[in-house]
Amino acid sequence: MAKITLSVIKADIGGFVGHSAVHPEVEAKARACLENNPLLIDYYVAHVGDDINLIMTHELGRNHGEIHQLAWDTFVACTEVAKKLKLYGAGQDLLSDAFSGNIKGLGPGVAEMEVEERESEPIVIFMADKTEPGAWNLPLYKIFADPFNTIGLVIDPKMHSGFVFEVRDLIENKKIMFNAPEDIYDMLVFIGAPGRYSIKRIFHRGTGEIAAVSSVQRLNLIAGRYIGKDDPVCIMRCQNGYPSVGEVLEPFAFPHLVSGWMRGSHSGPMMPVGMADARPTRFDGPPRVIALGFQLAGGKLIGPNDFFSDVAFDNARRLALEIADYLRRLGPFEPHRLHLEEMEYTTMPMVMEKLRDRFIDLRVAKKAKAAAGGEA
Ligand code: F6R
Ligand code: MG
Ligand code: MG
Repeated sequence: MAKITLSVIKADIGGFVGHSAVHPEVEAKARACLENNPLLIDYYVAHVGDDINLIMTHELGRNHGEIHQLAWDTFVACTEVAKKLKLYGAGQDLLSDAFSGNIKGLGPGVAEMEVEERESEPIVIFMADKTEPGAWNLPLYKIFADPFNTIGLVIDPKMHSGFVFEVRDLIENKKIMFNAPEDIYDMLVFIGAPGRYSIKRIFHRGTGEIAAVSSVQRLNLIAGRYIGKDDPVCIMRCQNGYPSVGEVLEPFAFPHLVSGWMRGSHSGPMMPVGMADARPTRFDGPPRVIALGFQLAGGKLIGPNDFFSDVAFDNARRLALEIADYLRRLGPFEPHRLHLEEMEYTTMPMVMEKLRDRFIDLRVAKKAKAAAGGEA
């Protein structure tokens, strides 16, 4: 059988209300655009916060112009609906007026993997809102390199050789490969700084096969100005030589802190939720993540299983809300507010300009005083 490509392409093309959710009419339009399309084997349209996620299967491979065109046209059609309803920020992630063969760099987020479908091919697709691609670093590390999370690394002979991590430097646009377990100390120097270094792909070391892929990009770097956080997605293959479904879900029982939340400028807990609860509200958050599981069957998407709607994640949600209470009390102070370089929105240049003349350079003042015969 031909290889199956799984393409997950997402965009925020208008929020309902504000930046909170996707309007049902927009989602219905996306479905109508993908329904019966001859390029696709199957599709599923998901939403998390104000982001619409097109999950598509086909046999055309990664970075295929026609698939990217289809996603682009779908977002354009959805934008028309969003404009009609005057949804907030209609078309915000479509940064260009024209599509030029590949959707990368034009605004929407993309994660694609091409697989030889196994006897049984369980996959989990994680989708987040109000955060950035580096938000996957900690869970991906735990899933594919930490035996305290993934016991399979220790006791499954098919996983014991470990995984290879492809890490991207989002500022200098470079990549580097790390072998886990022997390179983990070096790797953590970088992936512990997720605003700059982000895990793009993970490969099985025994077979060289793809295990996970995320939508690494930074919208604000593409656009050169703030146009929202990148609200990433990540696809993972599970079972039989890969981490089990339970092992890939496990890190999300701990709501780790991620960058994003209000105005893309705050640190907050990543709260795992079912799709129905993926509607950021409080202070535009806290950041949400959903996990949809599918069995691939000849490219058909059998599912989804909406994993985080399970009660097993209730404690994670409770802890996330407690962390949110604590952090919110810090108001405009770091580390709730991100440090200056990480702030997406900032009034700093404007305020600095206004106060320029009120700043006194103490080194100059000291020299002037010394020259005038005062103390040195
Ligand atoms: C963060 C986000 C929201 C907005 C905020 C202000 O990713 O989407 O927190 O940044 O609601 O939105 P504007 O500037 O559109 O009024
Ligand atoms: Mg939005
Ligand atoms: Mg969003």
